[in-house]
Amino acid sequence: MYSIELSGPTISTIKRVSIPEPGNVGHGQALVRMRAAAFNYLDRLVATGGYPGALYPNIPVADGAGEVIAVGDGVENVGVGDHVAVHPKALWIAGRGTDRNNGAMRGVTIPGSLVELALVDAASLVVAPAHLGFEAIASLPIPATTGWNALRAGEITPGSTVVLPGTGVTALQTLQLAKAAGARVIITSSSDEKLERAKVLGADEGINYRATPDWQDEVLRMTDGLGADLVLETTGTDTFSRSLKAVRHGGTVYAIGFVSGRDTPLDLLAVIGKAIRVIGGNTGSAADFQAATDAISAHRIEPVIAQAFSVGDISDAYAALQKGGQFGKIAITLDW
Ligand SMILES: NC(=O)c1ccc[n+]([C@@H]2O[C@H](COP(=O)([O-])OP(=O)(O)OC[C@H]3O[C@@H](n4cnc5c(N)ncnc54)[C@H](OP(=O)(O)O)[C@@H]3O)[C@@H](O)[C@H]2O)c1
Repeated sequence: MYSIELSGPTISTIKRVSIPEPGNVGHGQALVRMRAAAFNYLDRLVATGGYPGALYPNIPVADGAGEVIAVGDGVENVGVGDHVAVHPKALWIAGRGTDRNNGAMRGVTIPGSLVELALVDAASLVVAPAHLGFEAIASLPIPATTGWNALRAGEITPGSTVVLPGTGVTALQTLQLAKAAGARVIITSSSDEKLERAKVLGADEGINYRATPDWQDEVLRMTDGLGADLVLETTGTDTFSRSLKAVRHGGTVYAIGFVSGRDTPLDLLAVIGKAIRVIGGNTGSAADFQAATDAISAHRIEPVIAQAFSVGDISDAYAALQKGGQFGKIAITLDW
């Protein structure tokens, strides 16, 4: 069968290879015919040597989706014919993260989604929302699980205010889940056009962070000086101290990313003075993803797909990932 191999920490090492088919389907396992995958920022880091601990050579891409074609003894959560999303944290099934269950990450330290057949523990599969195709299903695991856990950490209820710096893929799915939860969403972007598109998705207000670098003041103005209940911190260096200013007393800054860098000055008085909860997030468990998927099904949420590539054009897909700037996911159709 075919797979895509990332032989080393540079995109130029991407190639299609033939590998042996998986063996027998064991107890608790499922065999999945993979049908689509979708990129996250993480996959860009892995393909450019920016992710510590990534394994090479490996089958890349964390998030994927497919159809179950066989199950082993004792499997009850999925059956043959089910369309499923494959949770990327292969060993983190439920409960809190540990070094062990966090360490096994598909497409990073264990084989990922760009493969014809995947033999996986069935417990790491989530039956997909019935209204979505494979590319959309593959777009969900990391962003939806992360967004779901951010909203839970921020105790978001109808009427809460959520601030999303940037219109990245995680922010967009968090926007959709936040609107489904009844929250008010303020989103920022470098692009007025992206802000308009975010409003079509349900964002209540948009701030161009290039035109208004002190966007945190604008958040305070929009909330009558109160501040937001939750800021999803995806950016790191450029935004972290602004996020602390944008959040309300007792509010939550949910730190997940660092697209502008990992180092940030931290004014402890800002955290202490407003009793801010700074919480780190590292995706979450398959059970968290199941909860997010239930909400996506109930609200018929459709993730935004910017572009879908055939697996035959995988180099072009990676080039688009590296270029960045899309509004929505880059998906890969596994049409070998
Ligand atoms: N810890 C976790 O579990 C977890 C889960 C998901 C993602 N992440 C991390 O979160 C980050 C975002 O991931 P992603 O996949 O959503 O990325 P992405 O789709 O590549 O989005 C990145 C976005 O960041 C925005 N941005 C860049 N500089 C900014 C600035 N100075 N202020 C505000 N926004 C800025 C841009 O928004 P505009 O184009 O609108 O300007 C850009 O589209 C990455 O570091 C990723 O590794 C972590």
